[in-house]
Amino acid sequence: MSLTGIFKGTGDSGFGWSSTAEEVVEGLDLSDLTILLTGANSGIGFETLRVLTDRGATVFAAARSQQKAEDTVEKIDGDAIPVVCELADPKSVLQCAEDVRSQDRPLDALICNAGIMALPKHETVLGYEKQFFVNHVGHFILVTELLEQLSDDGRVVVVASDAHKRGCPKGGIVLDDLSGESWYNGWRAYCHSKLANVLFARELGRRFEEQGSSRCAVAAHPGPIDTNLTRNMNPLARAGWSLLGPIFLKSIPEGAATQTWAAVHPDAADLNGEYLADCNVAETNQYGRDTELAKNLWEATEEIVDEVTSSTSQSADAAG
Ligand SMILES: NC(=O)c1ccc[n+]([C@@H]2O[C@H](COP(=O)([O-])OP(=O)(O)OC[C@H]3O[C@@H](n4cnc5c(N)ncnc54)[C@H](OP(=O)(O)O)[C@@H]3O)[C@@H](O)[C@H]2O)c1
Repeated sequence: MSLTGIFKGTGDSGFGWSSTAEEVVEGLDLSDLTILLTGANSGIGFETLRVLTDRGATVFAAARSQQKAEDTVEKIDGDAIPVVCELADPKSVLQCAEDVRSQDRPLDALICNAGIMALPKHETVLGYEKQFFVNHVGHFILVTELLEQLSDDGRVVVVASDAHKRGCPKGGIVLDDLSGESWYNGWRAYCHSKLANVLFARELGRRFEEQGSSRCAVAAHPGPIDTNLTRNMNPLARAGWSLLGPIFLKSIPEGAATQTWAAVHPDAADLNGEYLADCNVAETNQYGRDTELAKNLWEATEEIVDEVTSSTSQSADAAG
């Protein structure tokens, strides 16, 4: 436990900053559950995979290549199915959804955990800012493609970040320039993409509620943790981040707790639409609460998905 953890207590759920993923599922039998997890090969994703499968869940462990997915599954004792999901490639995401559907098992939870942070240079995927595309659009495609597979009381956990409260561009989501060209810097684009994660969960939750469904969509902030996510930070900042670990950061088991709790704990079943941190309901900022912005982002993302998936199928047609 870091120094910060000593001062932070627990919240209404009985868990808090220092709770670990293992602690939040202690005593639960998850052997009836099937869960899809992106970014399963690294950081808090790998810990989430390890803990969920330890308690009996079957997990579709998604990584960017077959090799990574298979290596990941080999490292754990439980029941996991390797799947490939490259979020920067709509074709790969659609194929992942197809692979999962072909197993014909209802999904009890989808955990959108994969992510990238603070790319030093402005990069785009099919014309859209890369962090926005990987962290938000790729997951949007995956989740919407698999909604029919989600059980009646299934959950969608979108891993976001408190970073959405700091450093977002003015207006929150820059709907008139999603290429990022006019406003890019690495950190701002990360905050922007994580706000998109928060708003995606909010709007999905609103749609679940409107449909009278018992499904649940939440956004989860894992906390600050020293993982490979910092790979794009300059070496000095990275070293500083690691040095701060014992004082300010969570351990990986602590960092994996909120998303694990949100995906399977009975107490998290009725938190539809909420933003979570430290295994409790938490505050977002004015942009994160903006239901109009959430609707607009949903519609804009649908248009992007139509565009990028039709260009993908056109190039496949041409190749075939
Ligand atoms: N660490 C923190 O302090 C912190 C704080 C707040 C929020 N978060 C969020 O927590 C989540 C997990 O991050 P982490 O800290 O565990 O970092 P991590 O160790 O770097 O894990 C990120 C995962 O995302 C995968 N990924 C990256 N690009 C991808 C792509 N194009 N397609 C598919 N998968 C891709 C990575 O795969 P490869 O290994 O193949 O690259 C890796 O499995 C992220 O969403 C992050 O934004 C982390």
